[in-house]
Amino acid sequence: MAETLQKVVEENRQGEAYAPFQGDPNQYSKKFYIESYGCQMNFSDSEIVASILNEQGFGATRNFEEANLVLLNTCSIREKAEQTVRNRLQAFRKVKDQNPGMLIGVLGCMAERLKAKFLEEEKLVDIVVGPDAYRSLPGLVAEAEGGQKTVNVLLSREETYADISPVRLDSNGVTAFVSIMRGCNNMCSFCVVPFTRGRERSRDAVSIVAECRDLFERGYREVTLLGQNVDSYHYAPENLEDAVTFAKLMEMVALISPKLRIRFSTSHPKDITDDVLHTMAKYDNICKYIHLPVQSGNTRVLQLMNRTYTREWYLAKVKRIMEIMPDCALSTDVISGFCTETEEEHQDTLSLMDQCGFDMAYMFSYSERPGTLAERRYEDDVPEEVKKRRLEEIISLQNSHTKKNHNADIGKSFEVLIEGQSKRSELNWSGRNSQNKVVVFPKGDYKLNKGDYVNVKITSTTGATLLGEIVSVN
Ligand code: SAH
Ligand code: SF4
Ligand code: F3S
Repeated sequence: MAETLQKVVEENRQGEAYAPFQGDPNQYSKKFYIESYGCQMNFSDSEIVASILNEQGFGATRNFEEANLVLLNTCSIREKAEQTVRNRLQAFRKVKDQNPGMLIGVLGCMAERLKAKFLEEEKLVDIVVGPDAYRSLPGLVAEAEGGQKTVNVLLSREETYADISPVRLDSNGVTAFVSIMRGCNNMCSFCVVPFTRGRERSRDAVSIVAECRDLFERGYREVTLLGQNVDSYHYAPENLEDAVTFAKLMEMVALISPKLRIRFSTSHPKDITDDVLHTMAKYDNICKYIHLPVQSGNTRVLQLMNRTYTREWYLAKVKRIMEIMPDCALSTDVISGFCTETEEEHQDTLSLMDQCGFDMAYMFSYSERPGTLAERRYEDDVPEEVKKRRLEEIISLQNSHTKKNHNADIGKSFEVLIEGQSKRSELNWSGRNSQNKVVVFPKGDYKLNKGDYVNVKITSTTGATLLGEIVSVN
């Protein structure tokens, strides 16, 4: 008989769906070093790779000179991201010259995009593995140890690594990423991700809830649910009465404990539902923050980008978010100088930014990517200096909005989750409020630890950070 997700989770089936990692970190005979580039998905994947390698007797090191295996988890989103990786590989060349036994592997999106060509272009690379082939890494490493160059870039329709318990790398012990889906079925014309990450698939909801619970029990206090398009999360196995939507999944994670914060990324303006917004509003521990990439404020450009929404649709979504959660913070992504973008169309992006008053934005100038729809269909005809100037205008406008919004927070009190000591002074704590803004405040005489919640009254701002003082401890 079909059951509810809640029941399946309560029946403690997580042993099947997800088993916490049991390895002993002191038992490793070999060492691997990993560096990650690109989006949070890549950082999260590196933690899966670490788990797979631990099981094969490879322990992590932060010093690449002592590693038997050096891995770069790469990004292809813009030309510059790929150039960074190529430069980094050159730095490893010297180390490899002195230690010819050291293996170098390229993982992630650039591996998927370039495939075996990588081995021809970069002679020092031994192993090339795409995002869906990490389970084959131990076999590939063994072959490479025998002197063979190896490649596996097969994409999968099913792989979600659901049962693998990530080994948290560079963790603050308070916040963690949890991958809930992989791939992307949208075909934004500028974007290489559908080609490097393959078709969209949702991870087993029971394993997600089990992973989040395990994190909470180990002292973590915040999880960020990750996917390229989280609103299209859909998990519908036969044993469940109802399909699990993103709203339902988020609710299940929120119910683990009111002390566990939930964030998520990324939402697509065409897919975010009222259901998601109401679920966010219902639970205090679901953070009031949405990253809602707009890309452009002009409907013609949005159409060319194949974003499938208009300027008006986007503005209506923002209005809806604010109606349901007046205290919700918003951030976005913007691309300047997409193919054929005119000066007036660029002005539309600026005016949309004015209307929305985003709290934060990631801003880029358009970088043509081989194989994308835009590369095949449109001419990359906005001159570099025009793209750059438009980007500067976008950045400067955003800076003024960030500053204005930060100033408006002065005098307000927020619940802050302490993530650690402030980088600048050990006398201060640093954490974030629900709206994802960084808050720094003096420790004072309170006996607090990272992972604790405190109420902080904002007294001033530095532009990027809010400064305040503790008013009470939760
Ligand atoms: N899945 C997310 C975004 C993933 S990529 C979404 O749909 O919003 C992150 C951001 O990189 C994008 O939002 C976009 O702003 C930017 N980006 C993607 N391809 C780009 C390109 N070819 N040139 C410049 N910026 C790009
Ligand atoms: Fe790329 Fe669009 Fe998919 Fe985001 S939704 S990953 S921008 S294709
Ligand atoms: Fe880059 Fe791949 Fe993420 S291209 S942005 S690492 S999905």
